[in-house]
Amino acid sequence: MTENNDNNEELRIGVYVCHCGSNIGSVVTVPDVVEYAKTLPNVVVAKEHKYMCSDPGQSMIKKDIHDFRLNRLVVGACTISMHEPTFRTVLSDEGLNPFFFEMANIREHSSWVHAHEKPEATLKAKELVAAAVAKVSFSQPLEMFEVPVTRRALVIGGGIAGISAALDLADMHIPTYLVDKSPSIGGRMAQLDKTFPTMDCSICIEAPKMVDVGKSKSITLMTYSEVKEVEGYIGNFKVKVERKPRYVLEDRCTGCGLCSEVCPISVPNFEFEEGLGPRKAIYVPLVQAVPAIFTIDMDACIECFKCVEACGSLQAIDFAQKPETVELEVGAIIAATGLDMWDPTPLEEYGFGLFDNVTTMMEIERLHCAGGPTVGNFVRPSDNQLPKTLGLIQCVGSRDKRYNEYCSGFCCMYTIKNAMLLKWLYPEMDITIFRIDIRTPGKTYEEFYERARQAGIHFVQGRPAEIREDPVTKNLTVLTYNAALDRQMEYEFEMVGLATAAIPSEGVAELARALTVPIDTHGWFLESHPKLKPIDSSTEGVYLAGSAQGPKDIPQSVAQGSAAAGRAARVLNAGKWQIDPIVAYVDPKRCLNVNPKSKCTQCAQACPYGAVINLPGTGQPSQIIPAKCHGCGTCVAECPANAITQWHFTDGQILAQMHTLLADKPEEKVLAFTCRWCSGLGADNAGVSHFQYPANTRNIMVMCSGRIDPDFVMEAFRLGAGAVLVSGCHTQDCHYITGRQKADVRLEKIMTQLERMGMTPGRFRSEEVSATEGAKWSRIMTEMSEVVTGLGPEGVRAENAKMLPQLEKRLARVREGLDAARVLDIFEARLQGIKTEVQQAYEREKKE
Ligand code: FES
Repeated sequence: MTENNDNNEELRIGVYVCHCGSNIGSVVTVPDVVEYAKTLPNVVVAKEHKYMCSDPGQSMIKKDIHDFRLNRLVVGACTISMHEPTFRTVLSDEGLNPFFFEMANIREHSSWVHAHEKPEATLKAKELVAAAVAKVSFSQPLEMFEVPVTRRALVIGGGIAGISAALDLADMHIPTYLVDKSPSIGGRMAQLDKTFPTMDCSICIEAPKMVDVGKSKSITLMTYSEVKEVEGYIGNFKVKVERKPRYVLEDRCTGCGLCSEVCPISVPNFEFEEGLGPRKAIYVPLVQAVPAIFTIDMDACIECFKCVEACGSLQAIDFAQKPETVELEVGAIIAATGLDMWDPTPLEEYGFGLFDNVTTMMEIERLHCAGGPTVGNFVRPSDNQLPKTLGLIQCVGSRDKRYNEYCSGFCCMYTIKNAMLLKWLYPEMDITIFRIDIRTPGKTYEEFYERARQAGIHFVQGRPAEIREDPVTKNLTVLTYNAALDRQMEYEFEMVGLATAAIPSEGVAELARALTVPIDTHGWFLESHPKLKPIDSSTEGVYLAGSAQGPKDIPQSVAQGSAAAGRAARVLNAGKWQIDPIVAYVDPKRCLNVNPKSKCTQCAQACPYGAVINLPGTGQPSQIIPAKCHGCGTCVAECPANAITQWHFTDGQILAQMHTLLADKPEEKVLAFTCRWCSGLGADNAGVSHFQYPANTRNIMVMCSGRIDPDFVMEAFRLGAGAVLVSGCHTQDCHYITGRQKADVRLEKIMTQLERMGMTPGRFRSEEVSATEGAKWSRIMTEMSEVVTGLGPEGVRAENAKMLPQLEKRLARVREGLDAARVLDIFEARLQGIKTEVQQAYEREKKE
C-alpha cells in the first residue's frame, strides 16, 4: 500500500478492536485481531478495549491520535447504525476530518453469527478490519453541507399520536400542517367507549384536544386529505397533498346539520360505528367531529339536492367540487398513521360474517358505548336482546403464523376492559375470556387484570379451535382445549367477541414509498434503531409516532407523539442543518456532454431526485446539486464514461475492500455487497437474532444496491471469488426510490453474461432482504456457501480460470473510476508472491 495518500500526506492509521464486553470477545480472539492489524500497511498502532465506545475507550483513542499523530481511524466493533456517529465525533473533537474513519462490524457480522466457528470468526474479523483499513486509506476529507431549514412541520395522521405531536409543535409556535385522510381527526381513540385501566370516557378526554387542534392558530388542519408525493430532504421537504372533494365548502359550512336532517338516504356508518348504526349521505362521522364540516358520500347520494335547499343562503354545498392538490413546504415530517383492525373473515372456523352473534371487539366497543348506535344498550345482533353469556376470544389473527405473527400488544387489556365494563353494567352477565397468555406490561395493568378476576370474569387458557352456531337459538358453542383441565371443552354463549389483530393502517405502504422510509415485514414503519432511535425513521427529518411504528396503546401513542414533536423541533428550531456529504460528483473532464454532439442523459435518468443538471447538446458537463443528491450512487454505476464518483464510496475504495477480502482463499468465499438500509440492516438483524451461518462470508456495504457497478461483480470473479451476492431492498422499498430498479436491470444482464461464460448457477445471486429479514439473510448466506463448498476449491478455480478471458474483456474499463487504477496497481503489486491459481491463470492468459 502507498505510504502517502492523495494529498501526499503520510498515512498513519490507528486500529481499535472492541471486546463489547463478551459479545465479541467470547467468540473472536481479539488480541489476535489486534496483532494482525499491526501488520497492515500504514497501521501505526492497534489496541483493544473491553468497551471501545465507553468514555475510557474514547479517551484512549483521543490520546493516541496525539501520541501517534494518527490521521485515520478504524474501529472493529458493532454496527455502524450504533456507533459510527460516536467515533466520527472522536475524530472531529481531535481536529480530524470525521470521514477519515471506518468501522468494521465484527459483532453482528462475525461473533454473533459464527458463535460455533471461533477460529473462522476470528479470521473473518481480521479480514473485515483489514478491509476497513484498506478503505480508509483512500478516504477523502469531506465537509458536511449546511442547508437552511423551513420552520414548518407536517404531521400525517390525526389520531391521538398525531394530535399530541401537532399540539406540542404548536406550543413551540412551530407552524404545523395536520393531514388526515378521514373527514374528522380523532382516530381509533374516538371510537372507544372507555380507556383502560382508568376507565375514563375516551372521547371525553380526547375531544378537548381535538378542539384545541381546531382552534390552534399554529395548526392548519387538512382533513379528508392524503399525502401523495414527498420530495426533498431534511429541513426542505416539498409535499403534495390531495384534498378530496367533500362537496361542502369548508369556509362556509357551520356544521349546523340541517342538510343531514333533510337527507333522505341512510347508509351504514362504517367510518365510525363499524356499520352497526346509520349515517346520512351527507354526514359527519361522529358528533364531536373536528372540523365540524359535513361531507357528501357520492356513492350513496342520489342528488336530490335537498341539502342545497336546507343550506339556504350559506350556499356551502358545491356538487362541482374537484380533488385539489396542494403543495406544502416543510422542514420535518411526522408519520402518525395509526392502525386498522384485522378483518377476521378469513378465519372461517370462527364464522365471522356467517354467524350473526360472532362480533369483533370494536363492534362490542360501539355496542356498549353511550354515544354508540344503541345508545349504550348492549344487545346481540341476531335478536337485539341482552346476551346473558358472552365469550371473548383473544389473539384472533395475532400471534398466528397464518396471519400476523406478532402480538398486537394492547388486546389483552382492551378485552379485559370491555369485560369489566359489561360486568359493571350487567352484573349477571357471565363472561369468559379465552386467552393464550395475558400480557399486562403497563403501569397498574396487572392490578386491573386482578380486579377482573375478582369481579368474576372467567379466564380459560386455550386458543379456541372452532365456533359452531345453533341455527335456531343463534347461540354459539366455542370448542377449545382447556390447558388447566388438560382436555377439550365446549362452552356455550349467546354472543362472542373476537379481539382481532391490529394491522398497519391502509395506504401505509404507498406513503412509506413516498417518504422513502422502509416498512418492516408486517407493514409497520421501521424505526432507525429499535432501542436508541425508536422515533426516528431512516430518512433524516421523518419521524414516527404511535401505531405507525407498531401497535401502541393510548399512553404510548401520546408519549410517542410528544417525542416525535421533540425530535422534529430539534431540527425546525435549528435554523440550519448539516447533511452528509456522501454525494455524487461529476468529473467535468470525463463527462461525455463536454462534447456538444453528445446527447447523454443517463445520470439524469438514473437520479430520482432531480439532482443532476444535465444539458446535453450544449457542451456543458453534467453537474450534481449536492443539496438535492441523496447519495445512493446509482448515477455513478450508470455513467457510461465512468465520470461520476460517489464520495466515501469511490470505485477505488470499493475495489480496495474487495481485493483485501479476496486476497486469501477467494475460491472459498462468498462476497456480499449490501445496501446500507434494508439489506445492511437485514444482515445486522441476523446478528442481533443470532441466526448462524457459515463464516466464509464477507460483506461490503454501499449506500444502495444501485451503486453496484457490474465491474465490481466481474472483478470479484476475476479475483477468484467462490460466489458473489448483491443484496438490496425489496424493489418497491428502496431507500432511494428507484436505485434498486436500476440495479435490477444491470444485475439481470450480469447474470446472463456470467451464465454464458459457464458459471454454475447460484454462484451469483441478486436478492432482496428487508431490515427485518435476518433469517432470510442467514438462509441466503448458507445456501451460497453450500454452492461454493459443493463445487470445492478446485471446481471454483477451474470454472473461474475458464471465465477469465471473458472477464478480462468485460473489465477493460475497470481502472477508469476514481482511485481505481491506483488501488489496482497497489494490490496487483502486493499480490506478487501470494498468487492464487486463478491469478496465475489470469496472467498466463494475459501473456498469450
Ligand atoms: Fe436498499 Fe436502494 S437502499 S436497494
